[in-house]
Amino acid sequence: MARVLITGAAGAVGGYLRAGLPGLGWQIRGFDRVPGEGLATEDWHVGDIRDAEALDAACDGVDAIIHLAGIPVEAPFADILSTNIDGTYQVFEAARRCGVRRVVYASSNHAVGFTPRTELAGVDTRQRPDTYYGLSKVFGEGIGSLYADKYGLEVVAVRIGSCFPVPRTVRMLESWLSPADAVDLFRACLTTPGLRYEVVYGISANSRAWWDLAPARKLGYDPQDDAEAFAADVLMACGPLDESDPEYRYLGGAFTTHEP
Ligand SMILES: NC(=O)c1ccc[n+]([C@@H]2O[C@H](COP(=O)([O-])OP(=O)(O)OC[C@H]3O[C@@H](n4cnc5c(N)ncnc54)[C@H](O)[C@@H]3O)[C@@H](O)[C@H]2O)c1
Repeated sequence: MARVLITGAAGAVGGYLRAGLPGLGWQIRGFDRVPGEGLATEDWHVGDIRDAEALDAACDGVDAIIHLAGIPVEAPFADILSTNIDGTYQVFEAARRCGVRRVVYASSNHAVGFTPRTELAGVDTRQRPDTYYGLSKVFGEGIGSLYADKYGLEVVAVRIGSCFPVPRTVRMLESWLSPADAVDLFRACLTTPGLRYEVVYGISANSRAWWDLAPARKLGYDPQDDAEAFAADVLMACGPLDESDPEYRYLGGAFTTHEP
């Protein structure tokens, strides 16, 4: 059975993957600065991604890493620099040192958050971070590309949309990634043979989506959910979006207005 190390395994997305990937043939080792649940004690490594020794111990014998650990929202630059930028460097370095074949990196739509609404946003659109947080995801995609070209790592950067049990806002009717589809997407990113470096959007098959899902489908992702099933309830609760609202105008939505 192939073994995958999940950094940030105690978090929300980590929880979905811990629940879904074992049934698809993956043995999970969790790494987080806080202890988590759902795995045997010996499969949990409690540590910080900025600690190279702890990472080396956790990488021993793994076939792939899913790197989720970090600050998932806007924060002061010093915090983003330490956790998301230095921490991500440390994870890629550990992968290189330990000979881990593949890294699937949790990037974010906020790496391209200032992309104005268009018919269909491709993954090759200019990187336009909307926050220091988004900037750290640009770094993560960049170091993934560097380590793929220079050291032969196989890297997939997943620009996750909004991964929650259900969509809660009008924007999430476009950006939602259901937990079940997240499992299928990460499965595809872990298993597709013959890739070097890929960037994909991570959303469900949402009728209202304007982010190109073709690159993810090319890796074998087969999304089953559509946020449209929740549209009536969400629109009843939130009302429609005005076209001047950043949530409507930009791929990154309200993050374009967030201050640390
Ligand atoms: N949930 C989403 O909708 C979404 C959208 C876009 C991108 N992402 C990205 O996906 C990843 C996971 O997001 P999430 O929603 O599960 O976040 P989360 O906050 O629930 O989980 C992050 C986990 O990382 C751990 N962590 C933080 N700093 C650490 C450190 N220095 N060392 C070790 N562990 C550390 C935390 O303890 C936590 O368990 C993040 O990188 C986030 O930026 C998530």
